[in-house]
Amino acid sequence: DITRVRARWVLDSRGNPTVEAEVYTLGGGIGRAIVPSGASTGTHEALELRDGGRDFHGRGVSRAVENVNTVIAREIVGMDSRKQEEIDRRMVELDGTPNKSRLGANAILSVSLAVAHAAANTYGMPLYAYLGGLQAHVLPVPLMNVINGGKHAGNELKIQEFMIVPVGAKTFSEALKISSEVYHSLRNVLKERYGSQAINVGDEGGFAPPMKESREALRALVEAIKLAGYDPGKDVALALDAAASEFYDGGRGAYLLDGREFRREQLLDYYKELVNEFPIVSIEDPLQEDDFEGFAIATRELKVQVVGDDLFVTNASRLLKGISLGAANALLLKVNQIGTLTESFEAARLAMNNGYSVIVSHRSGESEDTTIAHIAVALNTGQIKTGAPARGERTAKYNELIRVEEELGSRARYLGIAAFKHYKM
Ligand code: PGA
Ligand code: ZN
Repeated sequence: DITRVRARWVLDSRGNPTVEAEVYTLGGGIGRAIVPSGASTGTHEALELRDGGRDFHGRGVSRAVENVNTVIAREIVGMDSRKQEEIDRRMVELDGTPNKSRLGANAILSVSLAVAHAAANTYGMPLYAYLGGLQAHVLPVPLMNVINGGKHAGNELKIQEFMIVPVGAKTFSEALKISSEVYHSLRNVLKERYGSQAINVGDEGGFAPPMKESREALRALVEAIKLAGYDPGKDVALALDAAASEFYDGGRGAYLLDGREFRREQLLDYYKELVNEFPIVSIEDPLQEDDFEGFAIATRELKVQVVGDDLFVTNASRLLKGISLGAANALLLKVNQIGTLTESFEAARLAMNNGYSVIVSHRSGESEDTTIAHIAVALNTGQIKTGAPARGERTAKYNELIRVEEELGSRARYLGIAAFKHYKM
């Protein structure tokens, strides 16, 4: 039984306050979790409760912390920490709004995750095994954001994330080694071509070079892969997160990208060119967040994995709509977009049961918390996106996966390119 629930503010990787919760059980278990925070957030995400006012430039979380320490604590102390669904449902009811705006999704999620950690800890089990049971054994292929643009960097790149995907590795630890090598080769490529300013990094640990055009970034990645001694496409593939809502002009009904103005069909043609020129296996949010119909066209026409992030916001009802229309073929799973572990798992299972791939994801504002690494293994999603192989809040997740792989021993599997079942090249 849960004996105590306590929250406080701590800082995230951008230096903003966020909610940390601790849950204690009668069996001596302790669980702790820190909530992440996005910058290019989807309009339809659950609400992150911020104080406003002067403290922390309005970004304080004292109301969310207070909500955990009073209303939520009163409700769930005495409940069984193993009853995750019941606890999450209780918090959702207590909040009573469709987007968790009364208590705050940050307040609710901190407790939801800490409860899972507390239950696992009570049994002395690692979180992935507690959540996923004996079937949990697939180490995810990492999609690593090594060139940052959009809202995550102070450069002119409009596409938010240029990622390397070590599909040719045999194990997760080999994948991490290859990624680290390519990351450092990329550093050399960028420094040589653009000068030492180019190796400053953005919010997710990737470089933020002063480039103007998507192709420049993609060319630098291919070059870095070769320089590190790997085969582009075979050993290391590429992936994009366009985060297209950020460069969509609703008034004009057009996308402003790479110095041009694109209508939807033109933008899809542009992606097709890039997919033909570069070994891209996955494109996230290629179109703005409410264009389900456009996502369905993209999914039919692009021969790569099409990922819905701002489109689905880890929300089962938006995903259901997407499934019925054939919009996207993969779900980006961000626990703080929806606000409880239970609802996140529901969205993931709905996706998998309908042939969609699932990518567990960090946010651009992160912490040392490693919960998402465990969720990826628990659900055997086969894919994770958690930034560059650099910066502590990013490497915390990758390093945890190294430990999990070691612990699983001969049961561990790394799927490589087979994790991308919607990629057809
Ligand atoms: P965010 O970016 O955390 O700033 O929303 C990550 C993403 O768009 O995938
Ligand atoms: Zn995204």
